[in-house]
Amino acid sequence: MALSLPDWPWDALAPYAVRARAHPQGVIDLSVGSPVDPTPAIIRESLSAATDAHAYPLTAGTPALAGGIVDWFGRRRGVDDLSAANVMPTIGSKEFIAGLALWLGLGPGDIVVQPSLAYPTYAVGAALVGATVVSSDDPVEWPEGTRLVWINSPGNPNGRILSVEQLAAAVARAREIGAVIASDECYAELGWDDEFDAVATPSILDPRVTGGNRTSVLCVCSLSKQSNLAGYRVGFVAGSSDLIGRLLTVRKHLGIVPPAPIQAAMIAALADDTHVRAQKAVYRSRRDRLRPALERAGLRIDHSEGGLYLWATAGQDAWATVGRMADLGILVVPGTFYGAETSQHVRIALTASDAAIDSAVDRLTTVHF
Ligand SMILES: Cc1ncc(COP(=O)(O)O)c(C=O)c1O
Repeated sequence: MALSLPDWPWDALAPYAVRARAHPQGVIDLSVGSPVDPTPAIIRESLSAATDAHAYPLTAGTPALAGGIVDWFGRRRGVDDLSAANVMPTIGSKEFIAGLALWLGLGPGDIVVQPSLAYPTYAVGAALVGATVVSSDDPVEWPEGTRLVWINSPGNPNGRILSVEQLAAAVARAREIGAVIASDECYAELGWDDEFDAVATPSILDPRVTGGNRTSVLCVCSLSKQSNLAGYRVGFVAGSSDLIGRLLTVRKHLGIVPPAPIQAAMIAALADDTHVRAQKAVYRSRRDRLRPALERAGLRIDHSEGGLYLWATAGQDAWATVGRMADLGILVVPGTFYGAETSQHVRIALTASDAAIDSAVDRLTTVHF
């Protein structure tokens, strides 16, 4: 079977990167959401203390890691009834997102639902098995017989946060149509309203969402952003013990298991809320500077209630905005990379150093969109 994957849209950005790099003070890259701040010392020390790794690691994670994931859900997500049978580590969340349709046994003719604006890997996973993608945010529209539903909160690219009620409606509809529902919550610790400091953004595993029944429900998480661990490749999944058990069997056969020293680093990262809080404060301060500067320059920010991006529009074609930003030496991404629904929004990442953000703020004073 010939594999037909979506195009790699980032190639289309290359000429704008050239244009932005030509700026006399250099490029400020706000295109990719790749962390720029150091990995916290406590995590690096846990990794280096675990480099004697002669034995094969456990696909399900060490008992300490499973316990760390369970504790994190209790402490940060209001989900306090999980056990080790409900959780599983992943090698970052992207591999899991790309592989899930395959491991659930989907094939040609099956339907995968994704958000109308979506991280591209949901569709990649569908393409891997020849399934059909339906893009819709309204559970009522999700077709009968859908096999897999992806939702994403806080959302990439638009930073939309789904409430407990919206998550509950999604779960109810998925149950009605017989689908597995997977919620990508990799920005859960980055909700900007004050209420999301005490606990992270609502989880699909919240008992108010599931009604205490996790059947067919999965929650996908990542430490890439909240702990500056994108280079370690660390994520985890929680939910239905039946699904987790089936997925673990596949992953054992395929050898998809985070290396033991990485599992040790994850334990340290999950046990410590202090560094997550500190990193969030750093992003908040960048956001608090960049957002008004964009607004003063005539851009409107929509959603962006959570996550690492500002979802902005100048009321003109997204590529025109990308071009004008490139002339300021600021590289941003057109919203069209994430779905056909929008042609005028651009996605602007907060993942740049404080100095780079300050410089972007300065440059934005020279234009009006
Ligand atoms: C919505 C969303 N899901 C998943 C990922 C994958 O993250 P990782 O593989 O680093 O866990 C990203 C990365 O940017 C993302 O934006």
